[in-house]
Amino acid sequence: MSTHADSKPWTVPALADAKREGRRLVMLTAYDNSFARVLDANGVDLVLIGDSLGMVVQGHDSTLPVTVDDIVYHTRAVARGLNRALLVSDLPFQSDATPERALDAAIALLQAGAEMVKLEGAGHKLDVIRFLAERDIPVCAHLGLTPQSVLKFGGYRVQGRDEAAAARLREEARAVAEAGAQLLVLECVPSSLAAAITADLAIPTIGIGAGPGCDGQVLVLHDFLGLDTGHRRPKFVKDFLAEGGSVAGAVRAYADAVRSGAFPDDAHSY
Ligand code: KIV
Repeated sequence: MSTHADSKPWTVPALADAKREGRRLVMLTAYDNSFARVLDANGVDLVLIGDSLGMVVQGHDSTLPVTVDDIVYHTRAVARGLNRALLVSDLPFQSDATPERALDAAIALLQAGAEMVKLEGAGHKLDVIRFLAERDIPVCAHLGLTPQSVLKFGGYRVQGRDEAAAARLREEARAVAEAGAQLLVLECVPSSLAAAITADLAIPTIGIGAGPGCDGQVLVLHDFLGLDTGHRRPKFVKDFLAEGGSVAGAVRAYADAVRSGAFPDDAHSY
């Protein structure tokens, strides 16, 4: 299956081209150099240094303890392993509380090798997105189940289920794109809502537990390899190692399944 000119390095503007041309984007998280090299060599378009590392690498119960220094450390290691994939790094909990704090954190992440920063939420974060975008820092927004808001949500729950919440999310998605985000992660929202948001926007959406109607998909590396992380395995997770037979085979199986639209199916969606 053809990918992004097969071996051309990804750039931020190429993401919107992919959406216009109907090419689905394949994203996975990585936290170290060895996995980064396997992902890069086997068809992954975007690699995310997610603050999920707090849960799957550091053993915490949430992403809240993760610091900018943690993300910088893992970003440096992963950046050295990538030739083709675009590297996106998370702004961890409250490092984006104000535009100025977010700028300092984003500079640290870009200087470590990130090409885009991801931040959770809308509301006051719209000013943060605008502030970063005006300073030429590419931003990926993240809506739906935003794990940094776990205390407010009272757990990790599907978002946007009722009509009012769905309308709110749809409005927030338009607002983050309008503020300058160039990519949007939608986590744990009903498939129909994610498909509607995807149709509303010119920027690509990346789903995780958001059904097949997004422009791309992301999974946490440990979930995708079927590892026991000590946390409940959500419905949207599929063990691709079982299917691929090796780590490289799993990455290829995932990339093919995302590009063909075979993953996620209804069994892995809400
Ligand atoms: O931290 C992370 O890995 C993420 C993904 C779940 C999208 O934000």
